[in-house]
Amino acid sequence: MIDVSALRHGTDVAGVAAAIDDACRTFGFFSVIGHGVPMELEQRLERSAREFFALGDDEKAAIAMATGGRAWRGWFPVGGELTSGKPDAKEGVYFGTELPADDPRVLAGVPLHGANRFPERPADLRQAVLDHLAAVAELGQAVLTGMAVGLGLGAGWFRQELTADPLVLFRIFHYPPVLPGNEQWSVGEHTDYGLITLLRQDDVGGLEVRGPGGWIDAPPVPDSFVVNLGDMLERMTGGRYRSTPHRVRNTTGVSRLSFPLFLDPGWDVDVRPIPGAEDLAVEEWERWDGRSVHDWSGTYGDYLLGKVGRVFPDLGAQVLGDGGR
Ligand code: OGA
Ligand code: NI
Repeated sequence: MIDVSALRHGTDVAGVAAAIDDACRTFGFFSVIGHGVPMELEQRLERSAREFFALGDDEKAAIAMATGGRAWRGWFPVGGELTSGKPDAKEGVYFGTELPADDPRVLAGVPLHGANRFPERPADLRQAVLDHLAAVAELGQAVLTGMAVGLGLGAGWFRQELTADPLVLFRIFHYPPVLPGNEQWSVGEHTDYGLITLLRQDDVGGLEVRGPGGWIDAPPVPDSFVVNLGDMLERMTGGRYRSTPHRVRNTTGVSRLSFPLFLDPGWDVDVRPIPGAEDLAVEEWERWDGRSVHDWSGTYGDYLLGKVGRVFPDLGAQVLGDGGR
């Protein structure tokens, strides 16, 4: 549990940076308090999300991802997303940075860029999502300043090199209860793709993290965000920072909501090892997917497109034209 208020105010940056560095090397997961995101906003978001998921599938399908095009926004039904090749017991809505139709990237047809699909009901979901996107992306940038200092780089290093124009994706997930005897995962074991994920969860629980000694629970802590690291940070630090496997199973008997926001490198950024990465490198461990984040090179957009094709095969094949990856 790390209080990041000093980072946001530029006071004890070194102290917070050391705590973040320690967490990134051992678990690749931590929680933050002192985050500056108004809880009034989070309650507003949670309330309207709950209202949306209570609607019938027919109404939710008005903003279906399947008909939403290349921007990769909108709703998908329970079983619609495949993690580790198997359908998850969850439904959700995908959002991201809101871009107008005349944005150059939208005009050029760059995948994953565009306008969000907001439902007609509840009408206030739209503003809550946009406010949350802005507030939590800013929190993420503050966490990255601490991380940069902990890595011996200048505080502004990430923003200069990777997140001046970050890719920000945001999801709202609804996990219906998984019944006893059902082996299905709510989200199968996976790692996240980019830099950092900032996750708000309601008070139900079910998130598990693979720590050095085995799976551990990441139970909900009121007024906090869970932060975990993605594949790009593991790659950039020669494995010193861990892109930690995690998974969810909701066996509580009640519905769970979660709100992960992914603060990732800009689409065209060529993701390379950080200065001094040779001195940080640790022995590579066997990854959950048998792949290596170090054998690959290219832009973040390329990396992400390969992933999209695997978790949403139809979208990958039809819209992005890369279902074969
Ligand atoms: C994810 C994820 C966990 C959760 O979206 O990548 O791991 O609790 N979510 O929803
Ligand atoms: Ni994840």
